[in-house]
Amino acid sequence: MNIYMKNHKLAIVGATGLVGRTVLKVLEEKKIKNFEYTLFSSNKSAGTTLNFMNKDYVVKELTNDSFDENFDFAIFSAGSETAKLYAPIAASKNCIVVDNSSAFRMDDDVPLIVPEVNFNDILNHKNIIANPNCSTIQAVVVLKPLDDKYKIKRIVYSTYQAVSGAGKLGLEDLENGRNHSPEPLLKFSHPIYDNCLPQIDIFLINGYTKEEMKMVNETRKILGHPTLPITSTCVRVPVSNCHGESINIEFENDFSIADVTNVLKSSPGIVVLDDIKNESYPINSIVNGHDEVFVGRIRKDFSKKNSLNLWVVADNLRKGAATNAIQIVEKLMTLDKN
Ligand SMILES: NC(=O)c1ccc[n+]([C@@H]2O[C@H](COP(=O)([O-])OP(=O)(O)OC[C@H]3O[C@@H](n4cnc5c(N)ncnc54)[C@H](OP(=O)(O)O)[C@@H]3O)[C@@H](O)[C@H]2O)c1
Repeated sequence: MNIYMKNHKLAIVGATGLVGRTVLKVLEEKKIKNFEYTLFSSNKSAGTTLNFMNKDYVVKELTNDSFDENFDFAIFSAGSETAKLYAPIAASKNCIVVDNSSAFRMDDDVPLIVPEVNFNDILNHKNIIANPNCSTIQAVVVLKPLDDKYKIKRIVYSTYQAVSGAGKLGLEDLENGRNHSPEPLLKFSHPIYDNCLPQIDIFLINGYTKEEMKMVNETRKILGHPTLPITSTCVRVPVSNCHGESINIEFENDFSIADVTNVLKSSPGIVVLDDIKNESYPINSIVNGHDEVFVGRIRKDFSKKNSLNLWVVADNLRKGAATNAIQIVEKLMTLDKN
């Protein structure tokens, strides 16, 4: 039977946010028609009408009773606090939750899934599945095939993260700055317009931000290397959408650039754009709106044996959040649930 023939009920929690709206856009593009959708937000946006698949949906307020409706799946994009409160309720009512927040990512019994990388980890889920952090997703899509071939020894991440990664208030701060508006900052501690901010969040662990430690811990969990040496610097930059990452990787084994390029070109979910003589490499405006992870500037790190430098860009709202979550739901539907 065509997997899309059975009617599934899907709850979209946080439908009015940047990720939630991207979930709607991606579902619309994929033309997944045999879903029955219900859209939820907080009481702030409840009652808003969103047009989706040529139909008007009135957004409902998320409450303790919302999951009495027998949903098959829920995509949560509403922050950690909301996920901690409501995802367990949904899960207890036999709804499979794919959560975009960091609430459950490091829990031992919660799979942290990027379908191209570790979908098999999903098999023993207990109705909550975590979507990794946006900057981790795009990195591991590229790292996995290289790890399989050359065995990663160490990773150095430096990120250049768009303001959309901070939600709708982050985008407003950039817009207000661009328009020289006197509005107070809504999301950031310093003006993001015309600045790069080397602190993505206020939580510090040994001098590292929580975002930096997410990249370290989530990469280890997804690649299945719990002690892999990884260090990370995460920077918010004044661009609207798409995260850029410089990734330096040291391998156990030697490689040629031609071979690395072929490995990346033949791996799922990756587009290689690497022709520096013609000034061709991934940039935000090219990657924006795409589901693949783009890689360029592929070159040897001449300062260290078996080491490689890459420049990796992806749409954080799509592959970094909405698309990855939808891919998980699509793959779950193909599993024999009996
Ligand atoms: N932005 C990204 O690139 C990105 C990438 C990966 C993961 N994430 C994660 O995805 C989540 C959403 O991010 P975002 O960027 O879309 O944020 P956002 O633009 O600020 O949107 C937040 C959404 O959550 C809803 N919400 C807040 N409190 C709620 C509650 N108590 N009950 C129900 N809904 C509630 C909001 O509803 P109202 O409209 O009513 O306020 C809104 O729809 C966060 O956990 C974030 O860390 C974001």
